[in-house]
Amino acid sequence: MERQLAEEMIERAIEQLGYAYVPYSGFRVGAVLLTEEGKMYTGCNIENAAYTPTNCAERTAFFKAVSEGERRFRAICIVGGKDGVLTEYTPPCGVCRQVMMEFCNPDTFQIILATDTKHYKIYTLKEMLPMGFGPGNLEPAVPEKRK
Ligand code: THU
Repeated sequence: MERQLAEEMIERAIEQLGYAYVPYSGFRVGAVLLTEEGKMYTGCNIENAAYTPTNCAERTAFFKAVSEGERRFRAICIVGGKDGVLTEYTPPCGVCRQVMMEFCNPDTFQIILATDTKHYKIYTLKEMLPMGFGPGNLEPAVPEKRK
């Protein structure tokens, strides 16, 4: 991932913090999802008085993109912090990692965690979700492949 592209994603993810709907936690999260073709889909977290319907920023971005016909993704950038103050990296929750597993190649999909454009670290989905269960696991097993 080129530095300039990563920085643009970080800037756009930070913009999303302003749209986060977080009356219960005050914890703002912004995400930017990059397609293989280079298009960016944004997302913020959206909380709910019943708590469990809360949607994370990452899934907002994924569901916006998938609902527009996108299926191939290259990277996601995530920023977050209490009251929108970015001091620590915000790693994706387990549910969001599983959603990534549905649409992304764990060996190549990049997860950019940032606090600002100069401070970020890139992980693969495989690093964040080792031995994840994905669509490939539902394929009929070929005996030679079975381990
Ligand atoms: N949250 C996200 O949006 N993404 C994550 O990966 C971690 C958690 C949100 C959910 C909730 O609105 C708030 O952060 C506190 O958990």
